[in-house]
This record gives sequence, structure tokens and C-alpha cells, in this order.
Amino acid sequence: METNNHSDDIYGRARVHDTPELEKYYKELESLGAGALWTVANDIEPWEPRANSIPMLWKYDDLRELVLKSSELVTPEQAGRRVVYLVNDKLKHISAAVGLLYTGIQVTRPGEFTSAHRHRASALRFIMEGKKGYTVVDGNKIMLEVNDFVITPNSAWHEHGVEDDGETCIWQDGLDIPLVNMLEANDYAVYDGKQPLEKPINFSPITYGCAGLIPADTTAWDKPYSPLFKYSWSKVYPALLEAQKVNEVNPFDGIFMKYSNPLTGGHVMQTMSASMQLLPAGFKGKAHKHTGSLVYQCAKGKGNTKIKRKRFDWKERDIFCVPSWAWHEHHNSSETEDACLFNFNDLPVIEGLGLYQSREFEDNNGHQINF
Ligand SMILES: [Fe+2]
Ligand SMILES: [Fe+2]
Repeated sequence: METNNHSDDIYGRARVHDTPELEKYYKELESLGAGALWTVANDIEPWEPRANSIPMLWKYDDLRELVLKSSELVTPEQAGRRVVYLVNDKLKHISAAVGLLYTGIQVTRPGEFTSAHRHRASALRFIMEGKKGYTVVDGNKIMLEVNDFVITPNSAWHEHGVEDDGETCIWQDGLDIPLVNMLEANDYAVYDGKQPLEKPINFSPITYGCAGLIPADTTAWDKPYSPLFKYSWSKVYPALLEAQKVNEVNPFDGIFMKYSNPLTGGHVMQTMSASMQLLPAGFKGKAHKHTGSLVYQCAKGKGNTKIKRKRFDWKERDIFCVPSWAWHEHHNSSETEDACLFNFNDLPVIEGLGLYQSREFEDNNGHQINF
């Protein structure tokens, strides 16, 4: 039977006491590029999952002006992508916001566009403000509106812009760059010119995002990611409200729905997943923890999330992160309005590698104390 005693001084853990003879032995091993496992075992095999990142909140009110200022300082041609990235205090060396996930805020003014490019890292975006923004993914041009969720998967050519008669667009980017770099598998390529459009505008969301219908010709799509490149808020929010009428509220996450590949029901991409949750008015979620790193953006309303006994107050457009295995609970602070949280995460990797586990907070009626 499993012991709950997580002391490193028990049978089964490394508990060798150094002696002059052992230290001489370690030096001999080191000179040969080797080492004694028991000197590092307790550190590299923690009792429970251990996150390198800390919980953080990035307030949009604080960042917005600086994000806009970037559009006066550099052009998209100079910057490649004009982005202010959000970095975890503990992960500056890998430019990650949490775990092995990167996130940033990108601004594009009317008439501007980025170069077409692709990378092995997968990317997604969540639209924060503006009008007539667009993305072109694999020759599919898609128009973007606030709170829309868009994917640009592993190695798909993509470029973004705002029409001449649009309004400055700001969106959140999410990528698995730190993960792919950690696996030493990233690459990057620039397209010579603009992608030719292969399909009518909005082909992807119109073909794959309507009424539960998909093309009857199942050979029409053979890629390992969702053919639905954009998930429209104009459909997602009503869907959440409808779901609320017929579903029990999840005690941790409210009405909790995952963006899915309509052909498989699985995650939208191989390495990153995303979901949207509606916290009903007055919702006080219980605490749990699980493996996987998550980056949230508040899409609607206001509330707070208590992470590792610390309270983070958020409202629309604020971004925050929950590290792997950190206790967290979401509360809607309004008694009259619902709140919606978008998140993207690394759960396809965690689940695919058999690393998912979760635990519910049992004391104090499921709520963390002392924050
Ligand atoms: Fe990109
Ligand atoms: Fe959670």
C-alpha cells in the first residue's frame, strides 16, 4: 500500500550519508562523465509533480498602452511579428508564460500585415479587440472578431493582417515554442510573398463550423489537426448558454466546454488544446489540481481565481496562468452576470504521454484557506 509519508529519510528513497571515501568515488565518476544516481535521485524524482513556474496575472489595463506603443516604435516588417510577450518570473530563460507554453499580445493596425511564415511550433490566438482583422491559414482567409479562437497548427503557412478600413486589432497569441524547443525540434520558414488563396473567404468555419454537419466526403481532410480554423464567439457563447440549461454545473469549472476537432471530437491540435468555461452568476468553484499548464484569458465578466492560496482578481481581457499541479479555484464575483474564461493548455501532450492526474481539495468544503 502507498505511503503518504513524503520524507526523503524513509526506506525507498536515497539517503546515503557522504564519507571521504564516497566523495573521492563521486569525483572519479565525474571525471568520466558519470555520477551516482543516489546523489540526485530525490531531486529528479519528486514525490509529486513539481512546477517550475509560479502563478501570475497580467492586467490588460496595465499592458494595453504599452502594447499599442509598440505599433509606433517598430513596423511588422521590422519585427516580423509585433508582439509583447508575457513571461513567467521563473521561466525567463525559455520565454515561457507557464510550463512549456508561450503567450504574447500582438497589435496590428489597419492596412498592416505580417509576412507569411510557418514553424514547427503550433500556434493559436484569441481576439481581444478591433475590427476586420484576418488570418490566412494554409491558403484559407478567415475574418476575425472579438473573442474568436483561431488555430495555426504545426507547419501550416499563416499570415495575419487588418483590412485598410478596419480598426486596430489586438489578440493574444499562444504557442508551444518552449516545448518544441525543449524537444529540440523547432524550425521556422518564411514564405516568399503572400499565400495564394486556395478557398473562398471563411471556407473553413462555414464548412466545418455549422450545425454539426461535416462534409460527407471523409477523404476531404487528412491532417492531424482540426479543419475548423476559427471558433466564433457568436456561436460559442450561445452554445454555452444552451448547455447551461441542460447540464449540471461542474463544481470546479462551471459550464466547461472544449474546442474540438469536428471530425474526431479530439483536441484541436496535437500539442495544445483550448476550452471555454462559463461561470454562472455567483459561482464559487471548488479547488482542485491537475497536471498540465494553463493560460487563461477572461473573455467576459469579472471574478477571481485563487491559485496556491493566493487570490488573483481578473476582469475582461486579463490573462493569468495556472501552473501544473497548483491548487486553483475560480469564482465569479458578480451575483447577476455570468463570467467566461478562455484557456489554452498542453493537455494533449500530458494526456497523450499518460501524465494526467488530478486531485480534489477535500478540506474546508473544497475551498483553499489562508490566502
Ligand atoms: Fe507564426
Ligand atoms: Fe482546473
